[in-house]
Amino acid sequence: MKVVVTGGTGMIGRKLIDSLLATPELIDRDGNKAEVTAITAFDVVAPNPPLPDDPRLTVVTGEISDAAAVEALIDDDTDTVFHLAAVVSAQAEEDFDLGMRVNLDGTRITLERCRALDHAPRVVYASSVAAFGGDMPDVIDDSVTPNPQTTYGVTKVIGEYLIDDYSRKGFIDGRALRLPTIVVRPGRPNKAASTWASSILREPLAGHAAVCPVTEESKMWMLSPRRVVESFRHAQVLDGEAWGPHRVVNLPGITGSVTESLQALSRAGGNSARARVTFEHDPFIQEIVDGWANTFKTPRGLEMGFKADTDLDEIVNVFLEDDLPGQHVYYD
Ligand SMILES: NC(=O)c1ccc[n+]([C@@H]2O[C@H](COP(=O)([O-])OP(=O)(O)OC[C@H]3O[C@@H](n4cnc5c(N)ncnc54)[C@H](O)[C@@H]3O)[C@@H](O)[C@H]2O)c1
Repeated sequence: MKVVVTGGTGMIGRKLIDSLLATPELIDRDGNKAEVTAITAFDVVAPNPPLPDDPRLTVVTGEISDAAAVEALIDDDTDTVFHLAAVVSAQAEEDFDLGMRVNLDGTRITLERCRALDHAPRVVYASSVAAFGGDMPDVIDDSVTPNPQTTYGVTKVIGEYLIDDYSRKGFIDGRALRLPTIVVRPGRPNKAASTWASSILREPLAGHAAVCPVTEESKMWMLSPRRVVESFRHAQVLDGEAWGPHRVVNLPGITGSVTESLQALSRAGGNSARARVTFEHDPFIQEIVDGWANTFKTPRGLEMGFKADTDLDEIVNVFLEDDLPGQHVYYD
């Protein structure tokens, strides 16, 4: 069975690929358990550091909004597409045309290519809690209608609607996950407005300084990289009936404030780690972060079997176990 991962050299993409190489089992186009024998990682950026050298893995460098590149990428052998390629929140906010081209046109081109196949592939799509915004209740439950307030969020919600409609028409068997902010993100800081939520844990635990651009009270809805990879895999193996006509789910997560993150940092790394974090307020980032939903109730996701981390200590421990050992390559 062939699997395509768009955004395959990004943070989640490469972790998903590692997981699929280690445990190569998903559900095929006929709904049966099957071995993953071929994975194509597609990304506009070449992998750095390199992806594993494995005969099952092919890396293709290309542009998701280039229909010819996507036509060559996804073929009748493709059972599943994990569609992760996107420009992230602050980047889409700074560059409207780029956000629309990559996140919206790229998604439509990917789905149109899937529609042209001789079967309906499973498509697992990375949406975001940036779907929510504006005048929101304090707690977002499964009944709250998306009202995105950023270009990034708008493109993600349009993608969700397309996943629903292409599934309803039988063109694809789609599934969309509204991801919390993934913390602790390994590697370098990125252009997401949430990047500080990882930096204030990752940098000090690796022995480096970090700057927090938001207030100590600022809160975030979070999930660890380990749990998000489990969630993508779980989304792929669930039956279509488990999703019903609405192919979108708010993933379970945990709410954590900057203060609580720094307390977990102190517990894991001591006072010396905590002392590496300083505050430098950035009103642009604060405004974006304040506009995000940070507290959820997710009965649908929990009933479907998606799981959150227990607490911030678990999130920190996942980083210590999975990513701290390799983090030094980013500072050399
Ligand atoms: N990490 C999070 O906190 C988070 C939260 C909510 C949603 N998401 C979504 O999950 C997905 C993966 O996120 P991530 O954290 O791995 O981000 P990432 O930035 O590490 O990965 C995204 C990848 O998409 C690639 N990409 C960008 N433009 C492209 C283009 N034109 N053509 C092909 N590839 C392109 C990038 O090079 C990158 O490798 C994204 O869709 C993101 O919007 C992530």
